[in-house]
Amino acid sequence: MIDMKYKIIDNFLSETCFNFLSSLKLKKISDDEILGHHNQIYKDGKTKATCLSKENLIELQEDCHAKAMSLLKELSPKKAELYEYSDFNIIETGKNYSFPIHRDHINKLLSGVVYLKPDVNTGTIIYEDQKGKNPFEIPWKKNRAFFFSRTERTTWHSYKGDGKNNRIVLVYNLMTRDTKAVCDIEGINYNLTKFREFINPYIYRFFKKNF
Ligand SMILES: [Fe+2]
Repeated sequence: MIDMKYKIIDNFLSETCFNFLSSLKLKKISDDEILGHHNQIYKDGKTKATCLSKENLIELQEDCHAKAMSLLKELSPKKAELYEYSDFNIIETGKNYSFPIHRDHINKLLSGVVYLKPDVNTGTIIYEDQKGKNPFEIPWKKNRAFFFSRTERTTWHSYKGDGKNNRIVLVYNLMTRDTKAVCDIEGINYNLTKFREFINPYIYRFFKKNF
């Protein structure tokens, strides 16, 4: 049984936000590549944007922030107090690319994905454990959002292209820099967790796995 608390919300973005995100002109990638375009907005209004205009980023924050904060308060009330900034990343996954099973970094308080385009693709797949027991797909539907708050042992997930078309999503996360406080809330060892997150990209490069 999958022991993961999550939320699925259809028609998550306003029509305006969904439309401007779906019509972005992104750099071409090959079938087996993945490319992220990163945009951030801080509590004090400061922005860092790559593929979005400042106006669009502010509009997104106004459309989404209250909804996301209330989900976080429901899923992990203690973590909600650590909120510092939001990620609004556009991620394009090549049709033949697949990202391995992972649980998400400790700096993500609330992890979210909103499916953008095309009409049909593969949704996020969640699992009972790191080895991929009991896979369950959150079915793809445009403007459907899927949210969870990571934990060390329950939030196993992966994603991939469907072999026919590239997959474009908005990855929307509520973030903190206070990762020590996150570990205290989760009751996990800070140094071990930081070490694992440091070493994972190398393990992934050679073994296509995370630990
Ligand atoms: Fe993830």
